[in-house]
Amino acid sequence: MATRRRGKQTNGSKRKNDHVKNGTTANGDVTNGKLEALDPFRESGADEMLTTNQGTRINDNQNSLKAGARGPSLLEDFVLREKITHFDHERIPERVVHARGTAAHGHFRVYQPLADLTRAKFLQDPAVTTPVFVRFSTVAGSRGSSDLARDVRGFAVKFYTEEGNFDLVGNNIPVFFIQDALKFPDLIHAVKPEPHNEIPQAASAHDTFWDFTSLMPESMHMIMWVMSDRAIPRSLRMMEGFGIHTFRLVNERNEARFVKFHWKPLLGVHSVLWDEAVKISGRDPDFHRRDLWEAIASGAYPEWELGLQVIEEDQENAFDFDLLDPTKLVPEELVPVHRVGRLTLDRNPDNFFAETEQVAFHPGHVVPGIDFTDDPLLQGRLFSYTDTQLIRLGGPNFHEIPINRPVAPVHNNQRDGHMRQTLNTSRTSYEPNSLGGGCPFQAGAQMGGFVSYPERIADAKMRRRGEKFFDHFSQATLFWKSQSETEKHHIVQALRFELGKVETAAVRERMVGMLANVDRSLAEQVAEGLGLAAVPRVEPPLNRSIPADGKPESFESRRAKPARPLERSEALSMANTIKDTAKSRKVAILAADGVDATAVETMKQALTAAGAVAKVVAPHGGTLSGTRGSDITVDFSLLTVGSVLFDAVFVPGGAQSVKTLKADAMAVLFVNEAYKHCKALAGTGEGVTLLPGHNGAHGAPSSVEEREEGVVGGGDGDVPTVAAELLKALARHRAWSRETKAEHVPA
Ligand code: HEM
Repeated sequence: MATRRRGKQTNGSKRKNDHVKNGTTANGDVTNGKLEALDPFRESGADEMLTTNQGTRINDNQNSLKAGARGPSLLEDFVLREKITHFDHERIPERVVHARGTAAHGHFRVYQPLADLTRAKFLQDPAVTTPVFVRFSTVAGSRGSSDLARDVRGFAVKFYTEEGNFDLVGNNIPVFFIQDALKFPDLIHAVKPEPHNEIPQAASAHDTFWDFTSLMPESMHMIMWVMSDRAIPRSLRMMEGFGIHTFRLVNERNEARFVKFHWKPLLGVHSVLWDEAVKISGRDPDFHRRDLWEAIASGAYPEWELGLQVIEEDQENAFDFDLLDPTKLVPEELVPVHRVGRLTLDRNPDNFFAETEQVAFHPGHVVPGIDFTDDPLLQGRLFSYTDTQLIRLGGPNFHEIPINRPVAPVHNNQRDGHMRQTLNTSRTSYEPNSLGGGCPFQAGAQMGGFVSYPERIADAKMRRRGEKFFDHFSQATLFWKSQSETEKHHIVQALRFELGKVETAAVRERMVGMLANVDRSLAEQVAEGLGLAAVPRVEPPLNRSIPADGKPESFESRRAKPARPLERSEALSMANTIKDTAKSRKVAILAADGVDATAVETMKQALTAAGAVAKVVAPHGGTLSGTRGSDITVDFSLLTVGSVLFDAVFVPGGAQSVKTLKADAMAVLFVNEAYKHCKALAGTGEGVTLLPGHNGAHGAPSSVEEREEGVVGGGDGDVPTVAAELLKALARHRAWSRETKAEHVPA
């Protein structure tokens, strides 16, 4: 039963169902039934007196009850006992994986009815908005770990549909490490901090992870993604999402098709550099959490389009890979992604614990029209989530926690258990019954009852995988070949870093040998970085994913490699992403006393008008005295931020300001790091002389032609022109052509 808002008369009233219609009001506002359903649970304490949990008003919240002012505390003190007891039990176990996360409310709307594909009601009517709650996460780290770990990001979406909750529990990478859920505990044990000393936190760069990986050829495709910049996103708002497994869509005529789910971010897919990730982890370990929160709070609502790759049932075996194998993707060149709807996140949670921590996602939460396939990883997941939530959330009634309640009505004969909230009033808690009029009764398919797709299965019981599962390298190679030179360089550097942290030489060598199966030049470059004289001989993979006494030749397909492998897939490279918007990008305006106040104001206005965010960073907090006597509010002192927390830096003119900044090591580091990280740099007036990469850095301002990519501005102080150039450079995200030079800038 819901706790009620104070003052509402509730005695005798029947609990209203949470079922709420969603849609759009006459003035275009989105109505979100889930947010309304959460209302009775919200409590602010505003204008209220302090009470115990029993509602007794508390007169003294400072002193416990004692026998005399200096005497012992009394057991009778129910205020003390209740408060301390509740505090003692405030913690619950963190998620065994994906412990670190952040979430937001929003809504989803389909563009066109999808009746041909699915009977799912929330995919039929463009006028209907479906409330969602989305939780993003890292996988390996603890709840308090840094957002910028090199890791997969969870992308879990709970759709509160009128037919029940549908959870799309995906990641920001379209494939996974393993093919069978039986290996999941091994994978997670290997990547988590090592058991003897619990080191390292939220990092795969250690022996046990690479020991396991080097023995698991099926991980190799995923390893390419995790070593790429996809694993260090610029923002949770700038990540793709994937359902990974092949699912089924089923329409009213009971026709089924295979489907892969995609989320395509409207801001494009962008990442930071590893050097930034390391520094952000120190400067602001909550970087992603803060970025999402601030964007939503400021009205810059993140958006994604839902994409579907649809495959006819009779095409199941038309590919070189197996649709049931979660280590493979379906290249967009083979099956295009159709964008069918839009997800918008527009409200931050009220309470992290109640919502973000207590939300319980489950890939098995489906609605009529969406069904599973026999992907063995998915099948294992269907067991795992409820099982783990039973202990994490303390019992079988966690579906009654407000954030987990569907907006669809819930009626069944499940009863009792820890923390049961519902007051079931019926005498009957069994079915069939006559005493309760047969209620609640089964729903026919026409009444929205879920009917499992009648997939035909006729085979012997066995512990095996499909033959095509054994091609572990073709798509890893496809991914590698599809990357830009910059992306390839970053993958090599990531592998050098990760394996460089591995203490056991044999593990490092085996891993490099394994990489040679993906691409020889990749393995050679990594070997060089590790100081290996040559790529170690490629041994047959040690783990062949077969039983102890199995014979490999009877398991692996003779055609383990595709006959005509795809050479390149544009969609796999972030270089081909959206680069036409500077919206929500953060620009630091680096200034000191004596700064050109007009330049600051003009730049601020231009950036804000384009939807970017401008913040003044200065050697001290408070205000700066600008030219012409005007005061400028400082947002951050140099001590509290670094340029790693921004997308670009603008240095306005003002002789005194620039002189001060040049003499300040923190200010010089600020611009040097931004340069090294290939960010847009802009200057006007004397400010130009502070910019590395600008020929005028240590002398007179140079002409436009002499500037490097992403370094904009000139000495003539035309701020609107510089602002326009800066916005273009911001939209391109980074000036990668500078990267090799930038490595020589000490920062
Ligand atoms: C394609 C592969 C997988 C994906 C995309 C995936 C994704 C996710 C995501 C996004 C979460 C976090 C949900 C949240 O934000 O609360 C999560 C949690 C979890 N996953 Fe997976 N996972 C995968 C494979 C597996 C497998 C194979 C297992 C076990 C057999 C598993 C077990 C768990 C568990 C136990 C949790 C914690 C759930 C909780 O405490 O609420 N996952 N997974």
